[in-house]
Amino acid sequence: MRVVDLIEKKRDGVKLSSGEINYLIENYVSGNIPDYQMSALLMAIFFKGLDKDETNALVKEMLNSGDTVDLSKIDGIKLDKHSTGGVGDKTSLVIGPIIASCGLKLAKMSGRGLGHTGGTIDKLESIAGFNVSLSEDDFFKQVNDIGIAIVGQSKNLVPADKLLYALRDVTGTVPSIPLIAGSIMSKKLASGADKIVLDVKVGSGAFMKSVDEATELAQTMVDIGSSFGKEVVALITNMDEPLGSAIGNALEVEEALETLLGKGPDDFTKLCFRISEELLTLAGVVNPKDKIKEVIENKSAYNKFLEMIEAQGGNINLILNDELPKPNGIKEYKAKSSGYIIKIDAEEVGKAAMLLGAGRANKDDSIDMSVGLKMKCKVGDFVNLGDEIVEIHYNNSYDEVIKNLDEIITISSEKPQKLPIIHKKIEKSSN
Ligand code: URA
Repeated sequence: MRVVDLIEKKRDGVKLSSGEINYLIENYVSGNIPDYQMSALLMAIFFKGLDKDETNALVKEMLNSGDTVDLSKIDGIKLDKHSTGGVGDKTSLVIGPIIASCGLKLAKMSGRGLGHTGGTIDKLESIAGFNVSLSEDDFFKQVNDIGIAIVGQSKNLVPADKLLYALRDVTGTVPSIPLIAGSIMSKKLASGADKIVLDVKVGSGAFMKSVDEATELAQTMVDIGSSFGKEVVALITNMDEPLGSAIGNALEVEEALETLLGKGPDDFTKLCFRISEELLTLAGVVNPKDKIKEVIENKSAYNKFLEMIEAQGGNINLILNDELPKPNGIKEYKAKSSGYIIKIDAEEVGKAAMLLGAGRANKDDSIDMSVGLKMKCKVGDFVNLGDEIVEIHYNNSYDEVIKNLDEIITISSEKPQKLPIIHKKIEKSSN
């Protein structure tokens, strides 16, 4: 087999066989295919796409490139959720405790933030002592004992994705539906859960800019799950503005705790409850909405979060005494005119939080747990000139963030149409 022939085949829109896809991935991972040829192939895929068989073959080869996690030592149904990434997305911190307090199991491997989006692992590390590197046995034991553990990735899951993603990032081939679906689903399948809910973001702060594109991505991922014997459903959700109010590590943990006490922002609460409802439904729980209401009202979901923190070495007194990391100062940002908020650019809000030190531009940068932004307005709100619309939690300078906020938030006399937080649900296709 010659790589150039396979590149030409895909360039001309001809289907690749599973043997050919196996050859390409195996030889790329082992270093026998150079980046320039893989780049050309990725660009051909970007333009010509992959059909269902090709996508499934890609996922299979990506999965086979590394380790997989066998969760069979955990009793019962193992649930998982995944978000395609967004700003202010701290849903795992709320959904995990809800699911576990309803008696189900969530064995979650999460990532760190990079660029304008945050990561669950960084957020949890804002709680002093919290250990994200449990041994596999301790991870299984904790999930069996209390229903939940959230850890970073320890095994070498899907090394093919690490190589391919790095190449896609520098060759303009990230926003390809089969490549994104293959990348996300190979990692989800390698993590071992039985039933998965995907939160596919759409909007200015997401990879997918239109509901149609997001629907195609979601359907592709749900169908991959089903081809590999997993029950997967997806929700298409709005990422035109940041989710909830808090953006920044300790700030997001605080917002998650408020939400578990029933006092969270409306959009964030609605999304967390709906994803939890879908997970409970997949696990066969009847009246899932009532169950969620119950564990919020009787505080068992909130207490489950504290139980998880304690089990993973975190100091819960910091939470009980309001002693999570605090910044040196809080600067108010005020509305420059009266009118309706018509736009809050989610991606730029994420970058502003990064500028304050809440995120990392490079993989090895350190981050400041105490800083970030608290949005006091949502798209559709009416504000008066001089109203406080953002709190800037800072340790060093905030001047550049103030300048950026002038561009990030748009105020107009015309009332905008408010987009729903959840657009639709995608289930396995019938064919
Ligand atoms: N997230 C991933 O893990 N992979 C992609 O390709 C895009 C988003």
